[in-house]
Amino acid sequence: MSAPRTVDVLFSAPQDVYDEFHPAIMAALKSVGVPARISPELAPEDVDYIVFTPNDLIKDFSGFTRARAALSIWAGVDKVLGNPTLTLPLARMVDPGQREGMVEFVTAHVLRHHIGMDRYILSSTGWDQTAPKLARYRKVAVLGLGELGGACAQMLSALNFDVHGWSRRARELDGMTCHHGAEGLTRALSDAEIVICLLPTTPQTENVLNAQTLALLEPGAVVINPGRGALIDDAALITALDAGTLGHATLDTFRIEPLDEDHPFRAHPKITISPHIASLVRVDSSAGVIAENIRRGEAGEPFLHLVSRQEGY
Ligand SMILES: NC(=O)c1ccc[n+]([C@@H]2O[C@H](COP(=O)([O-])OP(=O)(O)OC[C@H]3O[C@@H](n4cnc5c(N)ncnc54)[C@H](OP(=O)(O)O)[C@@H]3O)[C@@H](O)[C@H]2O)c1
Repeated sequence: MSAPRTVDVLFSAPQDVYDEFHPAIMAALKSVGVPARISPELAPEDVDYIVFTPNDLIKDFSGFTRARAALSIWAGVDKVLGNPTLTLPLARMVDPGQREGMVEFVTAHVLRHHIGMDRYILSSTGWDQTAPKLARYRKVAVLGLGELGGACAQMLSALNFDVHGWSRRARELDGMTCHHGAEGLTRALSDAEIVICLLPTTPQTENVLNAQTLALLEPGAVVINPGRGALIDDAALITALDAGTLGHATLDTFRIEPLDEDHPFRAHPKITISPHIASLVRVDSSAGVIAENIRRGEAGEPFLHLVSRQEGY
C-alpha cells in the first residue's frame, strides 16, 4: 500500500486565529493519519484544501484549481455564499463545543427573564412577592431547529418550558411542538413569551421578526437573537419596545458588526447587547472537524456539513 500523500492546506484567517488553530489542526490531522503542511499563504494552484474564516480575506477563489473543498471555521457562511467564484464544495463548521456554549448562553438568558432576575434579584427597591410562573406554563418559541436551535430547544424542554420550534422542513423532536412553513410560524409565535432566533439569514428568513410577527407575541415578551442581525426588522423592534408590547430584547448579532457606538440599540433601556459572543468556535473540538473533513476528502468519502447553495445555508 502506498504512503498517503502530504496535503497542502491554505489557512486563510486573521493572524491570531491562525496562531491559535494551526497547532490544533496539525495535531488533529496527525491523529487521523493525514500528513499535511498548513500555511497562511500558498500559490492558489498548489492548494489542496482551503480552511478559512469567511470574512472576505479571499475574494477570488477561481485560481484554486486543484483544491477539493473550502472548509469554513465559522458556523455562518452567509458572507461568502454569494461569491460567484466559490464553486468548490463548501463545508461550514458544526462544532460540538460551540453547540454546548450556545445552549449555555441561551439557557442563561431565558432563565434571566423567566425567573425575573432583573426585577427580583438585581433591583434593590420594592417588595414585590408575585411568584414567577413555572416553566411548564411559559411558551418559548425557538426559530431554527438546526445544530444550535435544536440543542437549545431540547435543553429548554428538559427544563419543562412549553417549547415550540420552527424550521423549514417538518421535524419531530421529543418534548416539544414542532412547526414549519408560514402558518407554522404564526402558531409558534402566537402568545409566546420568549423567542429565540437561531436561523441563518436567507431571503426567506430576513426580517422574520417584523411588526406583524412581533404583534403575535404575548404582551411584554422577550426576544433573544444570537442568530443573525438581519432576522429582525430593527425599526419594528424599537417601536414594539417603546410601545411596551415587547418587554426586552437580548441581541448578540447585528446587521453591521461591530455595532456602531452611536447605534440606538446601545442606549435603549430595554435592550441587552453582547458583542457576537453567544458561542464562539472552540479550537480543540473544531480542529477535529476540519481534520475529519480533510481525511474524508483524501479517502474519497463525502464531506460533512456541506452548505446547500440552493437553500442558502
Ligand atoms: N452568535 C453566535 O455566537 C453564533 C455562533 C454560531 C452560529 N450562529 C448562528 O446561528 C444560526 C443557526 O446555526 P445552526 O448551526 O443551528 O444552523 P443550521 O444547523 O443550518 O440550522 C438552521 C435552522 O434554520 C432553519 N431554517 C432555515 N431556513 C428556514 C426558513 N426559511 N424557514 C424556517 N426555518 C428555516 C432550518 O430548517 P431545517 O431544519 O428545515 O433545515 C434549521 O432548523 C446561524 O445563523 C449561525 O450563523 C451564531
